[in-house]
Amino acid sequence: MKLFLDTANVDEIKKFEFMIDGVTTNPTLIMMEGRDYNEALKEICGIVKGPVSAEAVSLDAEGMVKEGKEFSKIAKNIIIKIPMTNEGMKAVQKLTKLGIKTNVTLVFSANQALLAAKAGATYVSPFVGRLDDIGQDGMLLIEEILDIYDNYEIKTEVIVASIRNPDHVKRSAIVGAGVATIPSKILEKMFNHSLTDKGIKQFLADWEKVPKK
Ligand code: E4P
Repeated sequence: MKLFLDTANVDEIKKFEFMIDGVTTNPTLIMMEGRDYNEALKEICGIVKGPVSAEAVSLDAEGMVKEGKEFSKIAKNIIIKIPMTNEGMKAVQKLTKLGIKTNVTLVFSANQALLAAKAGATYVSPFVGRLDDIGQDGMLLIEEILDIYDNYEIKTEVIVASIRNPDHVKRSAIVGAGVATIPSKILEKMFNHSLTDKGIKQFLADWEKVPKK
């Protein structure tokens, strides 16, 4: 299973670079950094060799394709994030024909994931946390999409997005999702266990009691 970092923060990316396979960004994440999107993407692609998603903000297919072409000039590993709309899927088809990889974002149903795959998306990003927020089971959607993709040997990779806790990552791995994109505070939590801390403390205390020459 691949782990992406869901951030536009370069310090977070440098901190976890040794563990991650890619990065996803979005307009909210870049707004939080208060810096130019293209500059940030260039810096991120200098650190991470795997896929780095950059999100288009146009609402029409032509505009999205134009943005996608511009983003893809930044680095070879840029993936164009396209929202799950009718116009978005037209853009995905066009970008795919141009050899530009895409990540269909804001996916909240299995039918949307089916359409994204039919349009030729490289990746699809179902948002599990936002579904949980409205009282649905986000992880159930991941299972449905994986089943459908499996039925038809669809090559589109599922990126579990909008992750809110380490359990989302664990459950993604159990059901066989290809990728989870994780905020750094959740990735940090995945390293930790209170018994690990307790164990280290105990071993260090015992080590102090070992006779040394
Ligand atoms: C993923 O591609 C999205 O950028 C992200 O996971 C959205 O997460 P949120 O629902 O916490 O904003």
